[in-house]
Amino acid sequence: MSDRLQGKVALVTGGGSGIGRTSAIALANEGARVVVADINTGGGQATVDAITECDGDAFFVKADMTISADVQAMIDATVEAYGQLDCALNNAGIEGAVGVPIADAEEDDWDRVIDINLKGVWLCLKHEIAHMQKHGRGSIVNTASVAGLVGGTFGAAYHASKHGVVGLTKSAALEYGSSGIRVNAVCPGVIRTEMADRLLGGDDTREARIAAQHPLGRLGTPEEVAEMVVWLCSDSASFVTGAALSVDGGYVAQ
Ligand code: NAI
Repeated sequence: MSDRLQGKVALVTGGGSGIGRTSAIALANEGARVVVADINTGGGQATVDAITECDGDAFFVKADMTISADVQAMIDATVEAYGQLDCALNNAGIEGAVGVPIADAEEDDWDRVIDINLKGVWLCLKHEIAHMQKHGRGSIVNTASVAGLVGGTFGAAYHASKHGVVGLTKSAALEYGSSGIRVNAVCPGVIRTEMADRLLGGDDTREARIAAQHPLGRLGTPEEVAEMVVWLCSDSASFVTGAALSVDGGYVAQ
């Protein structure tokens, strides 16, 4: 345990799996009290258990990031339990249909991806900032993707949603810098999580091809993303806002 976030309260959406779970644990290891939010109760509670088993302080809130009332209730529950909200990782997301060209894509899939990945982040920002503004401080990290920085084929809704998250991050940073609120995005390459497992489908050849697209020659780990999340949340990043920072083994340098 370290203490870079001692006395801070952090909220993590999509905290029931993958990058969200690992980041929630990393934030708690730095001393933050952590609220884990997800639609998946089992996954979210497992994250809380992992934190409390190591003497951390956390609780779970079931919330769907596409529903404004759920997002508001999640912030209210945080403030009621811990009295404040200092850091947030807006991370809940889905991959949507993959391997489908635009002309064959389903409208429902477009709506669902944009709803969760983009509107969900906007709703979180809206309610988090309303609270943070009253206190004149806060650090928010949005999970975008390398798909928010460069185009890609056969997953246009996902790429559009993540480009949107990067734009939203910059707008929020500009609007609320003077209120003491920093807003940044992390842009991971392909990271070993349940989402990546679904994308790779256990196909070793496909995994080797995707690993080779990263100049470091491998997929990333959730811990490598969590390191940047912790840093951005902490005062070590006190002059960093409006940035979209890659954690991608060199993917977007090509
Ligand atoms: P994951 O599938 O392991 O975890 C996503 C979590 O979000 C799940 O616990 C899920 O229940 C939750 N979630 C989904 N919809 C929700 C909703 N409407 N409300 C509340 N919670 C919801 O995925 P992973 O890989 O951990 O992804 C986390 C974020 O990182 C996503 O935004 C994803 O787009 C992004 N990302 C992932 C990459 C990867 O290769 N794994 C690469 C770049 C970005």
